[in-house]
Amino acid sequence: MSSFRSCEIFPSFVSLSHVFGFLLLLPGGSANGEDEHANVDWDNLGFGFMPTDYMYTMKCSKDGSFEQGQLSRYGNVELSPSAGVLNYGQASSHLQGLYEGTKAYRKEDGRLLLFRPDQNAIRMKMGADRLCMPCPSIDQFVDAVKGVALANKRWVPPSGKGTLYIRPLLMGSGPVLGLGPAPEYTFLIYASPVGNYFKEGLAPLNLYIEEEFHRASRGGAGGVKSITNYAPVLKAIARAKSRGFSDVLYLDSVNKRYLEEVSSCNIFLVKGNVISTPAANGTILQGVTRRSVIEIAGDHGYQVEERAISVDELMDADEVFCTGTAVGVAPVGNITYQDRRVEYKIRAESVSQELYSVLEGIKRGLIEDKKGWTIEIS
Ligand code: COI
Repeated sequence: MSSFRSCEIFPSFVSLSHVFGFLLLLPGGSANGEDEHANVDWDNLGFGFMPTDYMYTMKCSKDGSFEQGQLSRYGNVELSPSAGVLNYGQASSHLQGLYEGTKAYRKEDGRLLLFRPDQNAIRMKMGADRLCMPCPSIDQFVDAVKGVALANKRWVPPSGKGTLYIRPLLMGSGPVLGLGPAPEYTFLIYASPVGNYFKEGLAPLNLYIEEEFHRASRGGAGGVKSITNYAPVLKAIARAKSRGFSDVLYLDSVNKRYLEEVSSCNIFLVKGNVISTPAANGTILQGVTRRSVIEIAGDHGYQVEERAISVDELMDADEVFCTGTAVGVAPVGNITYQDRRVEYKIRAESVSQELYSVLEGIKRGLIEDKKGWTIEIS
């Protein structure tokens, strides 16, 4: 499958000045295009959608030809009723829709950092390959993310108050009736300022282990960020939330015994000095935060294991925590499985707190980034 050949959002970084020149002309845009904050209650951000000024769109036909990507005012998109994403995106296992999630952070000095957007680009490429879609190159993806973050700079929350969540989408937008790849694809990025993902804020989560529904099965698309991995878990989440749980933890669909992931994030457990997480063997998402936490934990002297983890082992852990771009590193306070509820000790000096502090410190520019994970864009 061919990939986007070249689709620069801006001919070069110099052309960012055109973008900000454009901003000056727009009603509601910032006066100097850079430093003003949007009028938002930054102290009460949750994970609800809040439209920002700009989005980015780039179209690509099936043969790999493209239209140059561009920033435009945020607004609705037009789609054919027979667009691949609408017809086969949610209704069958033949799907053509991927998404990503990455964030822009504001440093204390006001400048912006992105955290490993190249990893999201790589994951989108893997997903596109799985779903027979063309995909932007890593540079095209990262440049587009930078452009969206800069164009929406006034929506990046003040340091420590939240982040700008950046949502790249890749979808089959061309019309298709029979089951097959769409004749046209759209890569689109929008953004929204966000605070904590869970209403619990930074308080420990209480998870429910689901036995009836599974998130993914072997040979399926659970390992890529396909849109179809998300609608099927809504029922399980709604049921768990109505019973007071924060989210649902899924088991493997073959043995119904091994941990997979939570609807919105990956899972880790701690026993002594060993940190374990389910191996990414095709049914769980290869989270960017998951990978980063594994590396940080190794650097801090923990033994890290990626392997099959039984639910019995989970119930016997010292500590459990979740990781994800939206979720961050979130401690788990208790887990309910069948008729048993296990409480985990939440200590001030927990492993998850240690890993959270290091990761957040790097992302926010408070700790020196020796790994080259952050990109400063202002
Ligand atoms: C993310 O963490 O970026 C995700 O895509 C999870 C989603 C459920 C918000």
